Amino acid sequence: MHPYAVMLAVLLLGNLMVPFVSAQNEPKINASDEIILSADSPSKPVTLLCNLTTAHTPHKESFWMKKGQEIPNTRTEHGNIAYRINKPRADDSGEYMCVYTFVTAPNANATIEVKAKPDITGHKRSENKNEGENATMYCKSVGYPHPTWTWTWRKVDGTSFTELDNSTGRFFITSRENYTELNILDLDINKDPGVYECNATNMIGNTAETTILRVRSHLAPLWPFLGVLAEIIILVVIIVVYEKRKRPDDIIDDDEPVGPMKTNSTNNHKDKNIRQRNTK
Ligand SMILES: *[C@@H]1O[C@H](CO)[C@@H](O)[C@H](O)[C@H]1NC(C)=O
Ligand SMILES: *[C@@H]1O[C@H](CO)[C@@H](O)[C@H](O)[C@H]1NC(C)=O
Ligand SMILES: *[C@@H]1O[C@H](CO)[C@@H](O)[C@H](O)[C@H]1NC(C)=O
Ligand SMILES: *[C@@H]1O[C@H](CO)[C@@H](O)[C@H](O)[C@H]1NC(C)=O
Ligand SMILES: *[C@@H]1O[C@H](CO)[C@@H](O)[C@H](O)[C@H]1NC(C)=O
Ligand SMILES: *[C@@H]1O[C@H](CO)[C@@H](O)[C@H](O)[C@H]1NC(C)=O
Ligand SMILES: *[C@@H]1O[C@H](CO)[C@@H](O)[C@H](O)[C@H]1NC(C)=O
Repeated sequence: MHPYAVMLAVLLLGNLMVPFVSAQNEPKINASDEIILSADSPSKPVTLLCNLTTAHTPHKESFWMKKGQEIPNTRTEHGNIAYRINKPRADDSGEYMCVYTFVTAPNANATIEVKAKPDITGHKRSENKNEGENATMYCKSVGYPHPTWTWTWRKVDGTSFTELDNSTGRFFITSRENYTELNILDLDINKDPGVYECNATNMIGNTAETTILRVRSHLAPLWPFLGVLAEIIILVVIIVVYEKRKRPDDIIDDDEPVGPMKTNSTNNHKDKNIRQRNTK
């Protein structure tokens, strides 16, 4: 037989067999439709339902999964099960699954999609850099479905804004489904400071967060050094001035031990008295 004929036969047979097999053996699950979490605050509880309506062999257990992981403490022996999320947040969105296990048949499951608009859970409030350096800003999000390829960055000036992309050669945007990063190379003190906004959009909605970029002049790192220098100069001046005023006493006090410097006459007298006693 011609290889294509074999392939065609297999495909046709496969297509014919699948509904036949499933109608005969596969259990049926009546599950909730997809759920879209509202952005209301406080959020309303949501309940996911699964009902095992047809099974040819008795089932053993049922449990719930979220994002491919079993949710602990959801195993029961019931066929009609519910999973309640009391205070749903964007992070609770994702693919949920109810799974039924059987003694003599493979597991059966149904998927319920819980969708929410993205929520930005991590970003920098501000970024402080020197001119000529590179700046990095990022945003992290939760929310299902992920904002794949629909992350945007803009620079906001009051009510107007500029969309940013790679075309300038100084701005670089790299995005993954739940993370985006904006890199600005060779910061320009006149053009770059300002408010930058990342915007995550998925089919449910969008959310934006801002980062303030401050750019300091090249000289800025010198200020602490100049401050120390100024302090040293002031100290030197004070010492020099003091030494000049102190000089007349030094002539007689050259054997005086190091100690507090005294300038008034009564103290000088005491010192002399002590010295006289010591030399006796
Ligand atoms: C599935 O359940 C819903 C309510 O949860 C009900 O309205 C519907 O009739 C059920 N469908 C089947 C095929 O049992
Ligand atoms: C679950 O399925 C069973 C069998 O079809 C049906 O009798 C029962 O009413 C269903 N329960 C709900 C809550 O849909
Ligand atoms: C869900 O069912 C499909 C077949 O319908 C199966 O391939 C898959 O492994 C099942 N997943 C789980 C987690 O049981
Ligand atoms: C800025 O980034 C560019 C490209 O990644 C790199 O070549 C350069 O060394 C970086 N400059 C600084 C100051 O880190
Ligand atoms: C922008 O540049 C970054 C870093 O080089 C790269 O990973 C990304 O794919 C670019 N984006 C586009 C839309 O070309
Ligand atoms: C993004 O999602 C993937 C899988 O969905 C996860 O492994 C990763 O930790 C997430 N990253 C962030 C920054 O949240
Ligand atoms: C975010 O991006 C979406 C889609 O481009 C746009 O409709 C929306 O106005 C933007 N929102 C903000 C706050 O920038």
